[in-house]
Amino acid sequence: MAENVIRLVDVKKSFDGKDFVLKGLNLSVRKGSLTAIIGFSGTGKSVVLKHILGLYKPTSGQIEVMGQDLSRLSSDDLTKFRCNFGVLFQSAALFDDMTVLENVSFPLQEHRRDLSASRISEIAHEKLHQVGLDPKHFGKLPSQISGGMQKRTGLARALALDPEILIYDEPTTGLDPILTEMVDNLILETHKRREGVTSVMVSHDLHAAFRIADEIVMLDAGRVLLDGTPDDFYNSNNELVKKFVSKGMRKDSPHA
Ligand SMILES: Nc1ncnc2c1ncn2[C@@H]1O[C@H](COP(=O)(O)OP(=O)(O)O)[C@@H](O)[C@H]1O
Ligand SMILES: [Mg+2]
Repeated sequence: MAENVIRLVDVKKSFDGKDFVLKGLNLSVRKGSLTAIIGFSGTGKSVVLKHILGLYKPTSGQIEVMGQDLSRLSSDDLTKFRCNFGVLFQSAALFDDMTVLENVSFPLQEHRRDLSASRISEIAHEKLHQVGLDPKHFGKLPSQISGGMQKRTGLARALALDPEILIYDEPTTGLDPILTEMVDNLILETHKRREGVTSVMVSHDLHAAFRIADEIVMLDAGRVLLDGTPDDFYNSNNELVKKFVSKGMRKDSPHA
C-alpha cells in the first residue's frame, strides 16, 4: 500500500472550548500525490493546513507527518521540522524590503548555515530559473514586479529548501483567469519535477482541482465529506458534492 505522508486521525479543534471547527476529521495524503482540498468557504480548509504545519494544535486527535507524531515535537523541533514544508499562501507574503533574490535566499540563510553565500546565491538563482522568472527581475523589490512574478518568487522561496511537502492555500484567489492558469500550471509542473514530492493545495477553484489534482478531498462542516478521484466526484450522488461540482464546473469545463 502507498505510504501516507500526512495522516490526521479523528482531529477535533475548538478555539473557544464550545464550538468545534474540526469535528473528528480523518484524512490521509498519499506520498507523491497532488491532493486538492476543496469545500465551501469557512469549512476549515485553512485550519486543516495549519494543523498539518504544526501551527495549530488539535484539541484532540492525532496528526502525523512523514511518520512523525507532531504532538511529540518540542517547539524548537517543530520549527526545524517545518523545513520539510514549502508553503505558498494566497498573498505571496514576500518581504517588501528585500529583493527577489534576497527573498529566495532567506530560508537558506536561516536554515542552511553550512552553505557559503555563493552557494546560497547559486541555489536561489536555480529556483528562480525553475519557476520561470527572468533574471532581469532578480534585483527588484516585490513592489516593482507584477502579481504573477510575485507568485513565481513566492514559489521559488517555497522551493528553496527542497521540501518534501508543498502546501498551497488558495494560491490563485483574486487572480485573473490567465494568471490563474499560469499559477495552476506552475503548481503542476513543480509537482512533476521532483519524484516523490507531495503537494497539497486548498482551492475554491474546482476547475483547477479537477484539472491538476489526482486526489480530491472535500470538507464540510469540519469533516471529510468525500475523498476520492475527480471521477468519484463527478459520479457522486451526495447532494452537497453535486451542488459544489455543478457550481464549480459551470465555466469552460470539458465536463460542463
Ligand atoms: N485562529 C482562529 N481563532 C478562532 N476561529 C478561527 C481561527 N481560525 C479559523 N477560525 C474559524 O474556523 C472556521 C474555518 O476557517 P477556515 O479554515 O479559515 O475556513 P476555510 O475553509 O475558508 O479556509 C471559521 O469559522 C473561522 O472563523
Ligand atoms: Mg481558507
